[in-house]
Amino acid sequence: MRLEKYIATSGIASRRAVKKGIRAGLGTVNGETIFVPGHPIDVETDTVAFDGKPVEPLMEHLYLMLNKPAGYLTTRRDERGRPTVMHLVGDLPDSIYPVGRLDLETEGLLLFTNDGNFAYRLLHPSHEIEKTYLAWVKGGPNGTAIQQLRQGVRIPSGKTAPAKVKRLKTSRDEASTQFEVVIHEGKKRQVRLMFKAVGHPVIRLKRTRIGNLRLGSLRQGAYRFLAASEVKALMEL
Ligand code: URA
Repeated sequence: MRLEKYIATSGIASRRAVKKGIRAGLGTVNGETIFVPGHPIDVETDTVAFDGKPVEPLMEHLYLMLNKPAGYLTTRRDERGRPTVMHLVGDLPDSIYPVGRLDLETEGLLLFTNDGNFAYRLLHPSHEIEKTYLAWVKGGPNGTAIQQLRQGVRIPSGKTAPAKVKRLKTSRDEASTQFEVVIHEGKKRQVRLMFKAVGHPVIRLKRTRIGNLRLGSLRQGAYRFLAASEVKALMEL
């Protein structure tokens, strides 16, 4: 395995940061400083250190969050060769997969793991984990429309459960309005269909929170590993 991949998947730092560190002389293999990312290592026998600290063998399970840009499919493989979210985590082991999905044009917080139990818990409807979205919609929905969204609206897959819907700001010409929406269901295209049902189609959609995990300032297209405490908190929801 490539040195930077081994170090990055152990959760120490992003691959980008690790590569930079290796070039700066922070990486050693069997006590010898290796300045070239890409150096092959034997995961069974080599002893690796980074920034003076031993790198532990690969964790059994990986947990990470990606800030998904629009234009990437949430799927492991696309027969038509279109960009998928896997391209954005391409340096990580093939065993990881996205937990749930975001639409092609939806941005924001997407989790990945190779822990089936973790994915199952997060996706199971009975857990009703809250998710927060920022939605930019066409026009300026009135109080009645907002009330309908809060109480639940009819979409093709059924009636949506009550949701928290907060108007954040309306553009001066009322061409668009930004909302914060909190839902705990995972119906297909739910937020888009909710706003469509009240006559205000979504222009842009971004997920910013799952349970107590927030996207924060993670750069678009970048990922980071979750801390053990973050994984634990999600499992306890
Ligand atoms: N709701 C949507 O409409 N799209 C998503 O990707 C997620 C929630």
